[in-house]
This record gives sequence, structure tokens and C-alpha cells, in this order.
Amino acid sequence: MQTILEKCNNSGAIAAAADILRRGGLVAFPTETVYGLGGDALDPSASARIYAAKGRPSDNPLIVHIAEKKDVWELAEEVPATAEMLMEAFWPGPLTIILKKKPIVPDATTGGLNTVAIRMPSHPAAMEMIRQSGVYVAAPSANRSGRPSPTTAEHVAEDLTGEIDMILDGGPVGIGIESTIVDLTEEVPMILRPGFITREMLEAIVGEVRLDPTLITLEETTQGRETEPDSKLQHPKAPGMRYTHYAPHGTLSIVTDTANPGEVTPAVTGKILELTKEALAEGHVTAVLTTGENGSAYDALMETPGFHRIELGDTDDGQTVASHLYGALRTCDDLKCDVIYSENFRRDELGSAIMNRLIKAAGHRVISV
Ligand code: TXA
Ligand code: MG
Repeated sequence: MQTILEKCNNSGAIAAAADILRRGGLVAFPTETVYGLGGDALDPSASARIYAAKGRPSDNPLIVHIAEKKDVWELAEEVPATAEMLMEAFWPGPLTIILKKKPIVPDATTGGLNTVAIRMPSHPAAMEMIRQSGVYVAAPSANRSGRPSPTTAEHVAEDLTGEIDMILDGGPVGIGIESTIVDLTEEVPMILRPGFITREMLEAIVGEVRLDPTLITLEETTQGRETEPDSKLQHPKAPGMRYTHYAPHGTLSIVTDTANPGEVTPAVTGKILELTKEALAEGHVTAVLTTGENGSAYDALMETPGFHRIELGDTDDGQTVASHLYGALRTCDDLKCDVIYSENFRRDELGSAIMNRLIKAAGHRVISV
């Protein structure tokens, strides 16, 4: 299949994308979080094509993207007051809500669940494309299954060229990690996947919000407790959260200082230096994930062949880290790194979403000093 690549602002690009969606085809498009791979959410064969293009297990449900809040009532059987309050506060934007689905939403889109995930993205090209298509757009992140989510059109092209009809290029995305998912089908709203919209932001609107218990276990792995392999964890409620996502090909480990979780102390950089030297001595291509502030801690290694320092942004600005994280994991693959050590990041605001993704990418390998 020939994949058309077009800039969003080329005249006719969005109309062409909308047309492809209406005819059952697949279009990758930018959102404010990551690039999505869209198809008609009510057409089971379009959903099947999405799974095939991504190489994704078909029991992992898709998020349905809409262009207007009122569309929620077309897709969901019940819209609780909490949903209306959150839609009002955060839509359009990086929040996905889970509601009981109406029969028109096919099992092929929800992975057989009786609930549906719905999100109204704020990216202007995404909104315009959905609006012009006249369909609801099922869209997972536009990566091959298991690869980091794409934050540029080039990432999408690497993974999906030849598998989909079109890629709309809107440049690098703003946020860089996927939307917050909150389940509204039970009494108390529950976060299934952390993101840009934090628990505190949700609680300011609807009162108590819980975290999926499996996320709490994840948190504990960087607070100095024993790390548990994935298989021992309880099942997360969002099926996609149980896959080893985002993983680079090399072995990624996170180094954390038990006494100062979230801080990159000299103990952390010292341990990373020591481990990196060992790995290099064994002939491994080795990368360190750090920030602009801490990067100089690894100056001594810069001349060593096979060493790569990758800076994710600024320690004090989680947004800069989030927007570079997936690109950095892809860079590790491009550089053919066998071994990767990462600093840990603060748990404030976006920090818990960043650490959630990083710990998963590391397959829960956390080294405490
Ligand atoms: O920011 C985002 O949400 C991006 C952009 C493209 O919108 N999309 C995205 O989709 O991250 P995806 O498919 O990569 O992740 C969707 C997650 C998966 O973990 C899936 O299991 C979960 O949402 N999910 C979808 N429907 C669900 C449902 N009905 N109940 C529980 N979890 C659901
Ligand atoms: Mg994904």
C-alpha cells in the first residue's frame, strides 16, 4: 500500500484525510499528546485494519475520538454527572473517559468490553479532520505495537509506512505522552493511566479520585521497595497497560536514590557512571538518559567509544522531559544501544506519568542506591 505523507497545512490535506476515513481507510494524525492512527470507530473492518497495521492484539481496546462534546451521548449508554463535569473542565484536551457503551460501538473497537473510551482532542488538525470526516475516529497511538508512541510524523513513518493510507504531518506534538484515562463506570472515578491531567486536577473538579491499584505498585518500585516483575502485578483495568510497552531494544534500567526519591543525587549519577563504565568495558553500546542540568555528570565518558548521552529536557520542567521521552527511547534504538541507564524524575505533576512510562519501558528494572 502506498502511504501518502502530507503536511496538515497543505491545502486539501485535511479534506483528503477526512475522505479516507469516511471510506474506511486509515490516517495517522497529530494530537496534542501523541500521533494517533485513526479509522472509522463504528466500522469493525476499519478497527480490524488498525490492529493489523499496528500488529496489536485485538483484545486491546481503542479510544474513540470525537469533535463535539454532544457526541458522547451517541456513544455512551450512561453519562454520569462526573463525566459532564470533567468534559466541561478538560475537553477538548488530553483526558480520556471510560463509560458504558451503546450497542452501535462495535466489539471490534472496544476489544469486546461493554465500555468505551472517549476523548475529544484539542489539536486543531485533529479536530478539523474528525469534524470534516463526519465519523467518530478510533485511534490508538500510531506506533507498531511495542514501540514507543510517536511524537513526530517521522516516528509514524518509520513504523507504519506501507501499512496505512496517509500520514498527516503536524510537526512535533506538544505534550509527548498519552492522555490521562479515567474510568467513570464506578462510584468513584479511577485513573487507569496517568497523564498530563493529574489526579489533583481531577479531584479539584469531582472530589475523590482513585488510582488503579496496579499503578500504585508501579509507584512503589521507585520508592525503594522490591521491584516486582510484570507477571506478579494484578491485572490493570486498561488492557493496554499490561503489555510491555514503549520498550527500547536495549536493556533499560532506572537508577534511584531510596533516601531521596525523584532526586538525582550524586549517589545516583555516581552509580550510573560506575554501571556505564562496566557496560562499556564489556563492549556494550551504552546510553545514559539525563537532563540538561545533570548531563555534565557524565562528561568524563564523552570520549569513550560506544557511549551516548541523551538529554531529555530540564529537571524543573516536566513538560520538556515528557515531550522528549519517547523520541529518546527511539534514539536509543537508532544508535543500537544494548544497555541504557536512566536517571529517575520528580513525581510532581507530569512526573508520575513520566515515571509510569519509564518504569514500563524498563520492564520494572529499578536499581536503588
Ligand atoms: O493520548 C492518547 O490517548 C493517544 C492519542 C492518539 O489520542 N491514544 C492512545 O491510544 O494512547 P492507545 O490505544 O495507545 O491506548 C489506549 C489505552 C490502552 O491502554 C487501552 O487498553 C485503554 O486505553 N482502553 C481503551 N478502551 C478502554 C476501555 N473501554 N476500558 C479500559 N481501558 C481502555
Ligand atoms: Mg499506545
